[in-house]
Amino acid sequence: MEENNKKKVVLSGIRSTGNLHLGNYYGALSKFLRMQDDFDCRFFIADLHALTTNPDPKQLHESVKNILAEYLAAGLDPEKNILYVQSDIPEISEMYLLLNMHVGIGELMRTASFKDKARKALGITSDSDEIEKEIIGNQTSNQRVNAGLLTYPTLMAVDILIHHADYVPVGKDQEQHLELTRRFARRFNSFYKTDYFGEPVNFNFGGEALKVPGLDGSGKMGKSEGNCIYLIDDEKTLRKKVMRAVTDEGPKTPNQLVSQPVENLFTLMDIVSGKDVTDHYRQAYADCSIRYGDMKKQLAEDILKVTLPIRERILDIRSNDEYLSKVVRNGAERARAYAADTLKDVREIMGIRKI
Ligand code: TYM
Repeated sequence: MEENNKKKVVLSGIRSTGNLHLGNYYGALSKFLRMQDDFDCRFFIADLHALTTNPDPKQLHESVKNILAEYLAAGLDPEKNILYVQSDIPEISEMYLLLNMHVGIGELMRTASFKDKARKALGITSDSDEIEKEIIGNQTSNQRVNAGLLTYPTLMAVDILIHHADYVPVGKDQEQHLELTRRFARRFNSFYKTDYFGEPVNFNFGGEALKVPGLDGSGKMGKSEGNCIYLIDDEKTLRKKVMRAVTDEGPKTPNQLVSQPVENLFTLMDIVSGKDVTDHYRQAYADCSIRYGDMKKQLAEDILKVTLPIRERILDIRSNDEYLSKVVRNGAERARAYAADTLKDVREIMGIRKI
């Protein structure tokens, strides 16, 4: 334990909204796996964050179990890491309330992910910057943007700060939230004239944060985009999804500019198959000999090499309720000890003291 205390603290989590996809895997989980031997790692399942989209209670519970089983199946070791469920740590909810007193609604409303989700909730398709007005004007009873969605970054900052995390391995899409976390930490320190919180950073083994693209030709792979390849997908489903990936008519002239959908395929191939394989297909594109069908077959093959063994273990672990519950009971106990220490300090710093 003493040696553990000297290691840098790593903290990250994934929302419990279904199953893990390749974006989660390459953007986050594969980094967790590479970090678990060298750092003091704490990984959790963000079920409180999942509540911001008002999931069905039964599905939420199932999702928490899924993600836990998927963490374990991918190779996260409960002996090396603290693995826990966010809602098992009540200190997080209290600190969320406290930190919210130092967070501005304006800065929250300007967060890119909030604007995105608010647009979705209100069914707005344009990306007008007038979203703030729409939100205020549009609060009918069944079409509202809930306050939890707005304060999502506060809760995420608390997840991180309550552990005094040094590193927060996340994908590119979460970097703005991480920037807010640092801003809130600085603000807290400056308001209370303390250096209590450090400033956590993303961790990418010296590289860039990843954005895993979807196969539908547009932006990133994501659950709400409905374009995911899941770790739990069986072979047939997975092959079908890859073979259906959007492409174009193929290059007509040498060195033709690559279209977005095809660039996405190359990007995914870079991540999964490695640069050598991608270079081969990029060359074939450049000299107009590429056959997208062949490239997709290769990509599917390489994805399956990663996902199929994980899938088998998921199916095995998923049915072992006793084991799953033992892992998170133990994780919660250990995570709560850290969280309680921080909350105690924060209450003290803010002047919440017993009379
Ligand atoms: P979530 O659940 O949306 O995603 C979990 C992790 O997967 C990464 N990710 C991706 N990376 C690359 N390409 C993609 N297409 C892709 N899709 C998802 C995300 O960047 C993330 O690392 N707010 C967080 C959960 C959270 C958290 C935290 C994370 C709550 N508290 C504290 C770190 C620390 C989220 O919604 O992630």
